[in-house]
Amino acid sequence: MSENKVVHYLKDYQAPDFAVAEIDLTYTIEEAYTLVRNRMMIVPHEVGRPCVLDGSAELLQIVLNGKCLSPHEYAIADEKLTIHTVPDTQFELEITTRLYPAQNKTLMGLYESGDNLYTQNEPEGFRKITYYFDRPDVMSQFTTTIIGDKRRYPVMLSNGNLIDSGELDNDRHWVCWRDPFAKPSYLFALVAGQLAVLEGNFTTRSGKEVALKFYTRPEDREKAGFALESLKHAMQWDEDRFNLEYDLNIFMVVAVSDFNMGAMENKGLNIFNTKYVLASNDTATDADFEAIEGVIGHEYFHNWTGNRVTCRDWFQLSLKEGLTVFRDQEFSADRASRAVRRIHNVRVLRSMQFAEDAGPMAHPVRPASYEEMNNFYTLTVYEKGAEVVRMYHTLLGEEGFQKGMQLYFQRHDGQAVTCDDFRAAMADANGVNLDQFALWYSQAGTPQIKAHGDYDAHNQTFSLHLRQFIPPTPDMADKQPMVIPVKIGLLDKNGASVAFKMAGTADKTEETVLVFNQTEQTFVFHDVAKEVVPSLLRGFSAPVRLDYPYSDADLMLLLAHDSDSFARWEAAQTLYRRAFASNLDALASVQPLPQHAELAQALTSALNADIDPAYKAVLLQVPTEAELWEDVSSINPEQYVCARQALLQSLASSMQDTLTHWREWADEQERNSRHHAPQEYHPDLAGVRSLRNTLLQWGVLATADLLHNIVNEFSQRATNMTHEYGMLAAINHLSDDKRNDLLNQFGQRHAQDDLVMDKYFILIGSSQRPDTLQQVEKALQHPAFSLENPNKVRSLLGSFSRNIPHFHAADGSGYRFLADYILRIDEFNPQVASRLVQAFNLYDRLEPQRKTLMAEQLQRIQKDEGLSKDSREIVDKILH
Ligand code: PHE
Ligand code: ZN
Repeated sequence: MSENKVVHYLKDYQAPDFAVAEIDLTYTIEEAYTLVRNRMMIVPHEVGRPCVLDGSAELLQIVLNGKCLSPHEYAIADEKLTIHTVPDTQFELEITTRLYPAQNKTLMGLYESGDNLYTQNEPEGFRKITYYFDRPDVMSQFTTTIIGDKRRYPVMLSNGNLIDSGELDNDRHWVCWRDPFAKPSYLFALVAGQLAVLEGNFTTRSGKEVALKFYTRPEDREKAGFALESLKHAMQWDEDRFNLEYDLNIFMVVAVSDFNMGAMENKGLNIFNTKYVLASNDTATDADFEAIEGVIGHEYFHNWTGNRVTCRDWFQLSLKEGLTVFRDQEFSADRASRAVRRIHNVRVLRSMQFAEDAGPMAHPVRPASYEEMNNFYTLTVYEKGAEVVRMYHTLLGEEGFQKGMQLYFQRHDGQAVTCDDFRAAMADANGVNLDQFALWYSQAGTPQIKAHGDYDAHNQTFSLHLRQFIPPTPDMADKQPMVIPVKIGLLDKNGASVAFKMAGTADKTEETVLVFNQTEQTFVFHDVAKEVVPSLLRGFSAPVRLDYPYSDADLMLLLAHDSDSFARWEAAQTLYRRAFASNLDALASVQPLPQHAELAQALTSALNADIDPAYKAVLLQVPTEAELWEDVSSINPEQYVCARQALLQSLASSMQDTLTHWREWADEQERNSRHHAPQEYHPDLAGVRSLRNTLLQWGVLATADLLHNIVNEFSQRATNMTHEYGMLAAINHLSDDKRNDLLNQFGQRHAQDDLVMDKYFILIGSSQRPDTLQQVEKALQHPAFSLENPNKVRSLLGSFSRNIPHFHAADGSGYRFLADYILRIDEFNPQVASRLVQAFNLYDRLEPQRKTLMAEQLQRIQKDEGLSKDSREIVDKILH
């Protein structure tokens, strides 16, 4: 079945045989194709080696030191071009290829979107453009000339600075860009077409004037304003917190609607999915604004962590991604609502990355092998990778961490390096040993900690016993104990913080970070005068699961009083889990469902406490199904949805008055807001609105006329997209026809807005209404839908694949439907298809009937003759 499988191993890394002193590219854009002439100055590292270049484009000509090569002097096989004999010293190699961007639906390499041309080269797209050493440790200086029709391609962009331009006959023109920084091919970018530009500027702290340019379709220009402001904030923040300045005179961002991922950090020329650039109050929710700020920050921060210092090979991807996610998380947290942001990130990690780590695709933050690199842009590399970086920060403190960063840049600016180099910089700058920490890069699976505590009144000590266990994953059975920072505080039975002394320290403290690095360890807290409840893993100080035998009363105490906002929220999460578990038991034994009166009481008090509205909203988050079944096998997904829904229902009913009170309060707040125009994005208002929308979702469960209120007041209340979408999301699962009416009106009102239509498709794909599959099938025919646009596929089919009751329908219809579309999409965009395949990751852990149904569909995909290696790698791993 998979005879041609090629597995790449980290252990096989070999340094490149050649260096490229310079690369000079000329793109000639013609009506039906683009010619690329690639002239390289190549320097052999060792004599006598054949010159092997990566590439798959149509090859027109090879010229070596001015002499055209004849076919016997080279060979082409498996996307490699081998030139048998090359000079021992520097030589010039000129290769000409022909590309057909309009036919390229993979959205990798050079492709057309609208009538414009764009590139995407990370990780291995450059080989679709020309023949090159398409690996990140070959870095070179790029000069790019673009020739095209003046009217069709008035704007022609590439990396670095515009150094020259001119006119040609036949209404054509040319531009020449030069990037003074050596870079690998994956950071190369080109854009050509009709684009409007929104401009701004930024003066760096050393006085460099930087022109900021956002390129969009002409009708979208004004919608880039928020992104432009975000960029200025990001540039300022990187100077203030990381001491890092921008290094070119121009920074460009181009928005394109056909894009496989979120955005791309090409040097000086970031290319973004429109979703992360364009926003207005009528088209974007507060969450969209926040995501834009975060992604703009992320890509900008890559300029240092990714571009100035890049990866030696793709196994090291987390070197740039984990670090840059950490940096963008800190940027967002410094901008506003640190506590709520942290909780949001932890929730994503736990419901998605933990699931990945417990499934067939489990891999370490630095994978040891891959078949298709595109499959390793994962939650593990990005989100767990960011947690790994955060642990350095937790262990070393802000100052120590920044010392490490400085040493890292001092040593490695302009180089392609490894995660070990980063770890060494952190260790050496702080004079500490971080050898054991390396296990975070090589061992997959979520560590589990079992904890228990003993209070000794006589000695006035509290002892905390910790035991760790790293579960086996498909790649590795036996694992070593890891270094786990456990941030901890103690509370007395009234909820007051209790100071303590650790052995060997002179001063009392109220919080400490335990360095837990053995299989089993006991930590003793001295001078503890009374019984205490430990507040553990504060701030989620490590990406682990921790189990402590708290009583419900302990948890309620933490929920009410813990000074750490993560630990407080976590106490509520544990209470929800317990309540959920008792519902599941009751349903299984056909007993009446418990009422959870105490939990309702604790939540009511928490809501009535004097805390930030956005934090109230996150307290009302019940763990997702994926979190609830994280340590379960033989899952019946339907039961999880029922037991969870019943929990929401009973809490909503008993808390009805409180919920209504706070909903009305939120409305009032917004009406009275004097400081900000009420329809605009502002973090304070966003918090109020997020509380209001959360309360609407709870409200429809318990208050029968809420639907009617929403319908009657819809147009009056829909003053911005956060409200409009919030109301639709709240009623999205209701079977009432009014839901369809409102949704249809929404679809008509925004028919012209590509990004709002994504929301329309998300609502359809994620509804729990019984007719959802029919509605999804109908939506596939909608004029605004396109299988070739990844955002549309993710909105409709991606949301359906996460729609538990429908995707996991007992008759197998959800599995079959998704498999049909995976096969269709795989024919032209393997990257998007292989993401969808991962909806089947739960396969091995499902109850037998669904497992059989899933197996049929997985086998159908696996048998497909033309299946991409992207999708094949995933299916093979699921079925193993
Ligand atoms: N490197 C991009 C980022 O910032 C992600 C990306 C990967 C984009 C591959 C396109 C293709 O995370
Ligand atoms: Zn990134």
